[in-house]
Amino acid sequence: MKFDTQFLDQIRSRLSLSEIVGDSVNLTRKGREHTGLCPFHKEKTPSFTVNDEKEFYHCFGCGAHGDCIRFLVDYKGYPFFDAVKELAQRAGLSLPASYEERYEEKVDPSLYDVMEKAGEWFHQQLFSNGAREAQNYLEQRGMSPDVVKEFKLGYAPQSRRALKADLLKQGFDEKVLVEAGLLVQPEDGGESYDRFRSRILFPIHDNRGKLVAFGGRILGDGEPKYLNSPETPIFSKGHMLYGYHHARTHMKRGDQVVLGEGYMDVLALRKAGYQGALAPMGTALTEDQISLLWRLSFEPVLCFDGDAAGMKAAQRAAERALPLLRPGYTLKFAHLPKGEDPDSMIRAGRKAQLAQALSQGQSLLDVLWSSLAQGKDLKAPEQQALLLKQIDQLTKQVENTTVASTFRSALKDKYYEQRKHRKLGKPSSIQLTRPQNFFDKSITILLAILLNHPHLLDEVGEELASLEVEDVDLRDLKDGLLQFASQDGDYTTELLNDFLIDQGFRVTARELLASDAVTHFPWAQASTPSEKALGGWKDVYGNIQKYQAEVEIQHLQQVLANEMTEENWRRLVELKKMVAES
Ligand code: UTP
Ligand code: MN
Repeated sequence: MKFDTQFLDQIRSRLSLSEIVGDSVNLTRKGREHTGLCPFHKEKTPSFTVNDEKEFYHCFGCGAHGDCIRFLVDYKGYPFFDAVKELAQRAGLSLPASYEERYEEKVDPSLYDVMEKAGEWFHQQLFSNGAREAQNYLEQRGMSPDVVKEFKLGYAPQSRRALKADLLKQGFDEKVLVEAGLLVQPEDGGESYDRFRSRILFPIHDNRGKLVAFGGRILGDGEPKYLNSPETPIFSKGHMLYGYHHARTHMKRGDQVVLGEGYMDVLALRKAGYQGALAPMGTALTEDQISLLWRLSFEPVLCFDGDAAGMKAAQRAAERALPLLRPGYTLKFAHLPKGEDPDSMIRAGRKAQLAQALSQGQSLLDVLWSSLAQGKDLKAPEQQALLLKQIDQLTKQVENTTVASTFRSALKDKYYEQRKHRKLGKPSSIQLTRPQNFFDKSITILLAILLNHPHLLDEVGEELASLEVEDVDLRDLKDGLLQFASQDGDYTTELLNDFLIDQGFRVTARELLASDAVTHFPWAQASTPSEKALGGWKDVYGNIQKYQAEVEIQHLQQVLANEMTEENWRRLVELKKMVAES
């Protein structure tokens, strides 16, 4: 389908590209352009530019190029039509009617008509005498007649062809009724009959608010509990969420987006004031459904039963969401009390408890961590290695490289914190937080200087190597830095950070940089110009040598008192000279 170029131009000129891109990418203004880290490829220095005047973005690194529509298509994965539609809306333009129509031209429009008519018919049935049992059931589930009207619930009577007869009388084609999923056509060519019988019906609307399917609940117990419309040209379970259109049109700024398990949850939540209530329709959450949630909120809350199965389901949802993560978007996981869903809690008058569970949900990171660490003995090296490998595998799936690396480092942090916890009892029991002696303090400062100014390794690497460090944590970090210095590549802060994360030094490094010795020593700060930092290094290093020399002098004097050798004497003179000169 083609759009009128004039219309597209109008959209582009009315919108600020940097604002649209800025929703997903951190941009900094530089003269007429905005720049930032390219969202289309992995990079550490910004080569992505957005030009509002020219109405395009361009990446000098990977060549990504386009306008606001392209951005939604390429970065957010929108179908072209949806991108135009959304941007037109944002620009305050309405789509020319012909586009809406053309968009639907593949689909027989009478499918929508017939669903609409069926919905009305089912709804009427609910008020007939034959629906007494259904009315009682709804009453018993806390659904007053008001609610029934508001949600236009329906009832499919018991007789085998009641709906069929009515719709044929209204002039609909039998073929259309079958295609819409309202009638079942037996394989053996027998006469078609109503799909839904003796069930309460929940009308299901597509993302644009059109009635496209039904979910049918049996009255009381029985199998299957819910019977849904089959997949049809206008209904695709995995691409839609129950309640989406309502949420989109009725949510107020700041309303929570809450994903329940089923139809009843959505109705109960809405009655309780949650306009952003949604549910999948009997399938595990799909990627498309996660994207829909993110169109409504940066942090939708997913509800799960607090039992083991609920935890599993949460983990599956987290893993499903992982590849799709974009900066700023996440999921929250609310674990409800065992055996409860939002509907049952609301009906039992425990709205406050539900609200609390929703606001105190577990983070995506914690859910991922729990699924990784589950059942592993972190004291066993093989399991440690397995866990680290799994962290890499898992986070490699994240398409957005910024998010991938932040999750990778956050999960590794969790691992190293946990491991240290196991080993030493308390997370921050390392030497750095205890009062340090002169020597340890000096080493701490030297390491801090190099952590903040790794390029100095070129000049002072050998001096670093010559230091004999007793404290285990400091020694490990020193050896780590030397190992880093021995690798190929520039000594940049970014590369060093990656290295520290990979090798599990990040926590130690962070604690070291926050220690008193470092914060009180201006030359060790990242903001210090590097010549000054180098001067700081030389001073501290010199002091250490002097200190070591003095210790050795004392030692030698004792030795010489007992045993005068030429060699010891010479060494003593040398040391004294060195101390005097420094
Ligand atoms: P639940 O079994 O959790 O039902 O299924 P519920 O929503 O709590 O319903 P009540 O409270 O027992 O009436 C959750 C969702 O899974 C789908 C439906 O969409 C349902 O809302 N489902 C469930 C089916 O499609 N078929 C089934 O047989 C059962
Ligand atoms: Mn329920």
